[in-house]
Amino acid sequence: MSQTPPRRYITIFFNGEAYSVPHGLTIMRALEYAGFRFTRGSGCRGGFCGACPVVYRLPGDYKIRVGLACQTPVEDGMYISLIPYVPLVEYVRRREELKPDAGYVLKLYPEISRCVSCNACSKACPQGLSPMDAIQAILRGDLRKAAELTFDCIACGLCSLRCPAEIRHPAVFRLVGRIVGVYYMPRSRSVEQRVKEIESGRFNNAFVKLVSIDPGSLRRIYDEYLKTGRLPGDLGV
Ligand code: SF4
Ligand code: SF4
Ligand code: FES
Repeated sequence: MSQTPPRRYITIFFNGEAYSVPHGLTIMRALEYAGFRFTRGSGCRGGFCGACPVVYRLPGDYKIRVGLACQTPVEDGMYISLIPYVPLVEYVRRREELKPDAGYVLKLYPEISRCVSCNACSKACPQGLSPMDAIQAILRGDLRKAAELTFDCIACGLCSLRCPAEIRHPAVFRLVGRIVGVYYMPRSRSVEQRVKEIESGRFNNAFVKLVSIDPGSLRRIYDEYLKTGRLPGDLGV
């Protein structure tokens, strides 16, 4: 009869305290195993929302490393600190105010021009993107390239934590993505049509009904919808 091998435990340090946790967990799962509850600093748990940046050190290693708590596996002797959030001030502009030129982006975020091409941002990116190349593309005036390079940015801010020029990458990339979306991407007729339908009140009754349904029934309706592609009765509009 085969036996399950005994679980291996390792020691991690969180805010200076030692915890024994099973080997193979992510930092997030290991801290939960140790009794901590993530009331913030976590979202999708799958590496997509960017809410869980951490800094850590490995034993005997001088370097301060960064990563996502939900994706980074714990290692024996690891020292971990959570970052409550990456405090990046973002200048949100209305769609009508956006301008399709790099000068506009630089005016809002002048620190971009201080980029020294050190590549520290790209080395920190858990998505494997190259924020440095995107920043350089903006400096060359190529906003489309910058948007293309950062389409998969999850706005975790880890690149900004590393940046000696204090560039607010996620904010810059969001702005550039919006500019490119407004000025260079083809208009979606189906989205425009749906917006008109929403504005005409077509879905008002269905919406009122939907928010009054209890969670259990809502789950059954959703499961049924996944199977059949149809919503019941007046929810189907
Ligand atoms: S580009 Fe920066 S903010 Fe975006 S995913 Fe990479 S490290 Fe996170
Ligand atoms: S870390 Fe900052 S200064 Fe260095 S390459 Fe990236 S954007 Fe430029
Ligand atoms: S919880 Fe969403 S990226 Fe980690």
